[in-house]
Amino acid sequence: ANPGRAPAQKMEFALGGWSHVIREENVSPSFKGKNKLEETVLESELGDLVCMQSLTLQLHYPANACLLPICSLHGAAVTTVEGVGSTKARIHPVQERVAKCHGTQCGFCTPGMVMSIYTLLRNHPEPTLDQLTDALGGNLCRCTGYRPIIDACKTFCKTSPKLFSEEEFLPLDPTQELIFPPELMVSSNHTALFTNDFILGLTLGAGLSLAQVKEILAEVIQKLPEEKTQTYHALLKHLGTLAGCQIRNMASLGGHIVSRHLDSDLNPLLAVGNCTLNLLSKEGERQIPLNEQFLTKCPSADLKPGEILVSVNIPYSRKWEFVSAFRQAQRQQNALAIVNSGMRVFFGEGGGIIRELSIAYGGVGPTTICAKNSCQKLIGRPWNEEMLDAACRLILDEVSLPGWAPGGKVEFKRTLLISFFFKFYLKVSQILKTMDPVRYPGLADKYESALEDLHSRNHWGTSKYQVGNPKQLPQDPIGRPIMHLSGIKHTTGEAIYCDDMPVLDGELFLAFVTSSRAHAEIVSIDLSEALSLPGVVDIVTEEDLRGVNSFCLLIEPEKLLETQEVSCVGQLVCAVVADSEVQAKQAAKKVKIVYQDLEPVILTIEEAIRHHSFFQGERKLEYGNVDEAFKVVDQILEGEIHMGGQEHFYMETQSMLAVPKGEDQEMDVYVSSQFPKYIQVTWVAATLKVPANKIMCHVKRVGGAFGGKVTKTGIMAAITAFAANKHGRPVRCILERGEDMLITGGRHPYLGKYKAGFMNDGRILALDVEHYCNGGSTLDESLFVLETGVLKVDNAYKFPNLRCQGWACKTNLPSNTALRGFGFPQSGLITENCITEVAAKCGLSPEKVRMMNMYKEIDQTPYKQEIDATNLIQCWKECMAMSSYSLRKVAVEKFNSENYWKKKGLAMVPLKFPVGFGSTAACQAAALVHIYLDGSVLVTHGGIEMGQGVHTKMIQVASRELRMPMSNVHLRGTSTETVPNANVSGASLVADLNGLAVKDACQTLLKRLEPIISKNPKGTWKDWAQAAYDESISLSATGYFRGYETHMNWETGEGHPFEYFVFGAACSEVEIDCLTGAHKNIRTDIVMDIGHSINPALDVGQIEGAFIQGMGLYTIEELKYSPQGVLYTRGPDQYKIPAVSDVPTELHVSFLPPSQNSNTLYSSKGLGEPGVFLGCSVFFAIHDAVRAARQERGLLGPLKLDSPLTPEKIRMACEDKFTKMIPRDEPGSYVPWNIPV
Ligand SMILES: Cc1cc2nc3c(=O)[nH]c(=O)nc-3n(C[C@H](O)[C@H](O)[C@H](O)COP(=O)(O)OP(=O)(O)OC[C@H]3O[C@@H](n4cnc5c(N)ncnc54)[C@H](O)[C@@H]3O)c2cc1C
Ligand code: FES
Repeated sequence: ANPGRAPAQKMEFALGGWSHVIREENVSPSFKGKNKLEETVLESELGDLVCMQSLTLQLHYPANACLLPICSLHGAAVTTVEGVGSTKARIHPVQERVAKCHGTQCGFCTPGMVMSIYTLLRNHPEPTLDQLTDALGGNLCRCTGYRPIIDACKTFCKTSPKLFSEEEFLPLDPTQELIFPPELMVSSNHTALFTNDFILGLTLGAGLSLAQVKEILAEVIQKLPEEKTQTYHALLKHLGTLAGCQIRNMASLGGHIVSRHLDSDLNPLLAVGNCTLNLLSKEGERQIPLNEQFLTKCPSADLKPGEILVSVNIPYSRKWEFVSAFRQAQRQQNALAIVNSGMRVFFGEGGGIIRELSIAYGGVGPTTICAKNSCQKLIGRPWNEEMLDAACRLILDEVSLPGWAPGGKVEFKRTLLISFFFKFYLKVSQILKTMDPVRYPGLADKYESALEDLHSRNHWGTSKYQVGNPKQLPQDPIGRPIMHLSGIKHTTGEAIYCDDMPVLDGELFLAFVTSSRAHAEIVSIDLSEALSLPGVVDIVTEEDLRGVNSFCLLIEPEKLLETQEVSCVGQLVCAVVADSEVQAKQAAKKVKIVYQDLEPVILTIEEAIRHHSFFQGERKLEYGNVDEAFKVVDQILEGEIHMGGQEHFYMETQSMLAVPKGEDQEMDVYVSSQFPKYIQVTWVAATLKVPANKIMCHVKRVGGAFGGKVTKTGIMAAITAFAANKHGRPVRCILERGEDMLITGGRHPYLGKYKAGFMNDGRILALDVEHYCNGGSTLDESLFVLETGVLKVDNAYKFPNLRCQGWACKTNLPSNTALRGFGFPQSGLITENCITEVAAKCGLSPEKVRMMNMYKEIDQTPYKQEIDATNLIQCWKECMAMSSYSLRKVAVEKFNSENYWKKKGLAMVPLKFPVGFGSTAACQAAALVHIYLDGSVLVTHGGIEMGQGVHTKMIQVASRELRMPMSNVHLRGTSTETVPNANVSGASLVADLNGLAVKDACQTLLKRLEPIISKNPKGTWKDWAQAAYDESISLSATGYFRGYETHMNWETGEGHPFEYFVFGAACSEVEIDCLTGAHKNIRTDIVMDIGHSINPALDVGQIEGAFIQGMGLYTIEELKYSPQGVLYTRGPDQYKIPAVSDVPTELHVSFLPPSQNSNTLYSSKGLGEPGVFLGCSVFFAIHDAVRAARQERGLLGPLKLDSPLTPEKIRMACEDKFTKMIPRDEPGSYVPWNIPV
């Protein structure tokens, strides 16, 4: 942070929020901080992103607190989100604008976002749009879809179009920011040498951060002639995508080089660039080359013990020397490369003959690999097609990857090795042409775009809200874009989540021990070592839970803890309870379990089908006569599509705190859950064998849930409560990200098989579909998910003859569960894929076939529920018009005919999302509204605030009904004490149902108070409340909604399972790089029919957030399991959710005009889930682009693309001479690293 300072025995730094300088004497290099420095301050303040200000450079750096060694803070001023601003003091303009631009939903990511923008503005008060995108590149948000956050940032860019009226915002005044604490000022001059301009190149100090290296290179490139800066250009390119700016600020050049990790982006370039490392030890200085021997840690070429790297010399490039950098990752930014490469060629003076050639790859071995022999053999050859061909073969021979290679994607990696070289070949050929057009022919025009990267250009988007009713009273908030109730608290970090609750007296921490085998008998468990560790209080096992260890949700009994036979990796075996989190986790690792593996181990859907391993309860829906219809159609096609699962990736991991009250067996449970009643009654009360009235379950807010905080949360809460009860002490359990991903399951992987009978004009007359979902080891909600998928198989289409059957596969994976969309994103994709194939067979565009088969006006669904599809057609037509589909289709085709290695694709999908729970009881909701004597109102209801803004909407409802300002109404959270027996918050219905209950309560109150109000119409609520009190009129009312009249009879296949339908359409355009498999989301237009929006800002947020989550599902989010059933992808480094760079460059959302929907809350519609499915418009746009590439290459047969459509799948589907050249392994001749489940 402050590299110029001399090493000190004393350490001091400032925590800016408090202008508080922290000092510690006698600091040793191994000093860790905790216990010595003011522990509480550090624990609470460094839990997120921070901004560090250093004196020497007078610059501000965003940094991840978790990656920040405390000693590195010496001499720095640290500002946390609390220091930026607060509701108690002053809100910073960044905080205000992020909140007011609706950039927060669950709010868990928000402090990090605020810190990134704040730091950017401290360095650049008027940033450019590029700086803005770069600043947010290292932050993740699972809720918003980023667009509103980008909008908030844009208000600070002078270059941006005005999106908001400036008067609305607090001005940004850099003179009012925190200053560098004078106490930390030192008089010495801190100009330690980091860069020296030597005659032969640039020497960079090993202590420079990668961010500083980036800045220096950018500056040097400006000053030097291009021929000298080839290596610097290549390094700069990789530094632009290497991690996010927070990491680049913390990672040192020396640490990066010396750690020699296998996917280092810089080492391959430094190696081909002939760099030298300057080392220093007590013995003196010496230089070693940064070459293959160094990279493979060969002892003779490595640092000696006690030696440090001082600097690295990067030589200038010469005339006729060219250097390039290549990388491909799962996500465009902030993702380690799958393969990366540095390549350098030197021709000597003209002649086009290779004099020197160096190629190094990352990601294909245990460290950076140099293709030394291949390069040697190519020296002396001219730069032409024959050389290219020979080079590819030599490289594939030398850099060989076995089929079982760690990381998987072996054929893709092999293809990238030579695709990158081909790109290098093209690039150099192009430069040679510009240098000597007579001698070098250069490239065909069609090839030129191969050299361009798919840039993420500056984002912009629009949202077209509904026009408000001019007759609506100005104080009535319904239909207005009101900011999220907690928006400001999210941005100031004041919003409290479960783990923010202060530590209680005597509190213990609980950590789970989980199974490491997919199917095994537990032969023995040895707890002795774990129990002997300091701080360990207890280990809860199945034995402790005797009599309460089993539960039955539907038909299959399940266990809380399993100590006999485990059926998946990640199954809960026992739970360690200790004084602290560290002690509990350390002890959990010391529990020794001996397993005896059992057969069979069933992991994949195909294996489950082979073993006939299904949960009871096949689901079947049949309409018309499918078999007869197949006899009369022109054509029949059969196909299948596999769809991978998805991790919820809520930002707040599973969290709970159980507090025994010390009398009458009462217990309070604070938990991040969507279903407090379930936690209270089904789990905690049942496990403690006490009546439910002794248990209070409270949820203030949830940092994202998406369906993942129901069943598993209940099991863990029960065990936590059990431990708390046993020891009479509060017990907290917070899962780490890796544990959470391992234990809790996610969206069900699906296999869809279909047979479609259709006419040559594209009309589908018969569809026979089979759904198989991978349920995992226990039933959980798999049958409900399957059922929903079957009911929604028709999506927006009228198939006159339809049969859909579904099976939930029982496998040895952690149990899969609910996830936003609940079976529909899978079911809908299967149907749309079938339609895409039908279109290809008919030689028509998929959009034409979609339109032709769509529901038209009044119709009937396969379960014989009436449907009015007028708005579906309107959404489709509007989307066609808004996206200029026809014009852009022509433009895409033109682009594709002019570019061989880049292709564009355009696709539009319709949406019919039926909303409902399938049973009236599941739709009931209740609320409780109190009016206090000062006229203020407290609302409680059964819904959980998970970011969707339900509490904000409920206050809007109370405000309208009671005709009082929103500021007069408060909402404190959800509790089983105020609203009992509330249903789960999910299925897009939370605001719908609870809103009707709140409305009912308010109307009851108003009816009671009307005589009083009419007596004193000019009075205030305080007057009326007092008058009511004086007349003994109750100022408290419950509200109730008994639920929509819904039912479904699976015997007859008929029913009315849904209350209404949300309609929509999305059109997406992408560009793909056929050589690397990268894709760029260029533009998406979404049109939705949402009835009357209660809060358009929150509703747009739900649509966009769901769309981006769906886009992740269908394109980049990939769970990887070992052949033994172990989940590899257990964190953000391995599992990639969409980041800012993935948001379509243009994103437009528009609503249909308001439509009446008599049974729902103010004619509104639930929007939490439908948008997920629209993400598949990106899948089909990529599909379209890949098809174009294949057609050009003469591959006209069927195209089978599974989901997610990752860079690997895109590249391998764009078959060409390179994919033909790579060696292929015989299936079965090796055990692959991972398997698709
Ligand atoms: C979230 C995340 C994302 C990342 N993404 C990417 C990416 O996309 N691409 C990529 O290439 N890299 C990526 N990295 C790796 C990053 O670039 C650095 O390589 C890494 O953080 C190591 O740098 P450091 O300064 O933290 O090293 P440290 O952890 O401090 O050091 C690493 C090793 O080098 C030794 N060492 C450090 N300095 C010296 C010295 N001067 N002399 C001798 N030994 C020394 C240390 O003792 C240690 O053994 C990522 C890292 C993280 C945490
Ligand atoms: S608001 Fe960003 S993760 Fe929830």
